Amino acid sequence: MLSLEWVFLLFPPSSVSSLYISLPLPAPLLLTQTSLFLSFSLLFTPLPLPFMGAIDVAAIAKTEGESMVKREEERMGEAEYMKGVRHLCDTGVTKVPSRYILPAPDRPHIVRCGDSTSSHNLKLPIIDLSLLHTPKRAMALEALSMACKEYGFFQVVNHGIPCEVIEDMTDVSKRFFGMPYDEREKYMSSDLRSPVRYGTSFNQIKDRVFCWRDFLKLNCQPLESVLPFWPSSPADMREKTSAYANGMKSLFKELMSAILESLGVSIKVLSEFDNGSHLMVVNCFPPCPEPNLTLGMPPHSDYGFLTLLLQDQVAGLQVQYNNEWVTIEPVPGAFVVNIGDHLEIFSNGIYKSILHRVLVNSLQNRISIASLHSMPVEKVISPAAELVSESSPKRYMDTDFSTFLNYISSTEFKKKNFLESRKLTRTMDQTTEGQLC
Ligand code: OGA
Ligand code: NI
Repeated sequence: MLSLEWVFLLFPPSSVSSLYISLPLPAPLLLTQTSLFLSFSLLFTPLPLPFMGAIDVAAIAKTEGESMVKREEERMGEAEYMKGVRHLCDTGVTKVPSRYILPAPDRPHIVRCGDSTSSHNLKLPIIDLSLLHTPKRAMALEALSMACKEYGFFQVVNHGIPCEVIEDMTDVSKRFFGMPYDEREKYMSSDLRSPVRYGTSFNQIKDRVFCWRDFLKLNCQPLESVLPFWPSSPADMREKTSAYANGMKSLFKELMSAILESLGVSIKVLSEFDNGSHLMVVNCFPPCPEPNLTLGMPPHSDYGFLTLLLQDQVAGLQVQYNNEWVTIEPVPGAFVVNIGDHLEIFSNGIYKSILHRVLVNSLQNRISIASLHSMPVEKVISPAAELVSESSPKRYMDTDFSTFLNYISSTEFKKKNFLESRKLTRTMDQTTEGQLC
């Protein structure tokens, strides 16, 4: 099992906008049945215009002296930041360090519940999966199809995952992040190929602006091979987490079966997911003293077919809807499901992969567990044959991992994300930005 994170910084020093993609990938040739986890961020900064005017040498010396002191402080803080935000909170931080402060245009505009702006909370369609096994199946499929087209996000209830499997997963995740730093640190690896990796932000080695998030990433495919590498503490971590991972895999397949039917695509495709990539990301967002200045996760789309997200009862997830950021209110016992880039391509654009981000808050710790699923990484993803016709031509190029790598290492790559680059029909605006590779 391999794990790899890539971050591309195009313009130093701080970010104005970012794109994050989570991608479970297969190992290169020498390893069988392995997967890589890849994520990348793109950070853009307009460079300041050079200042023209009278030169005040004393002022320059003073400014340089001050900035050296600041840099020294930043260097001293750096080692602490690398230990993550949970650790930072344990040290009693009362202000957000500059390392986490987003440029003003990227900061969230947090409104309190009860304000007149509470319409910023969105009730996603709730799909009752038990209806799929009743004569109301067609109705449930219609609701599912509408949710995928209109929002790219929905919640599922009556999904068949036992309450205790869900509660155990949340509980063991809390206990994992509640362990002393020395315990968690054991899984913090600079080996990007590790099947288990504890860390902070997105890519703590490269991120210029850090996110207010610590994470534990667990590759789940194939489960029996990776399990011995997963954390051995808390003592019940492997047991609880693998039960949850198995539940997520079957729920994903049930959802995919319904989604294929809703699209009118042959159910035969389902077998492609048997050995498909599966990555679990356990996210921890500790309380943040100044939540208006930073984000738990920046705007990103998920790479695979579907992401199944378990969030505790603390709100934080926001999705883009009608060009606004809207908060997804947690529904007890439900999973939030979202369409990933691969499903957008496979559905020939009928279902959309939507940008989302995470807010933090000053009062409560938040835990979420994202399960990202796709086909095996060596598989080429293309629009389903049934969805391509003369009246509905292919809208995306076939895509595989090496194309993705070529794309992100291309100097042409500036503002558009990978999915955008795979589109065959492009608007005038898009054709002016970057070339297809
Ligand atoms: C993710 C993600 C949202 C959340 O892990 O990709 O979008 O609410 N998480 O934690
Ligand atoms: Ni996501």
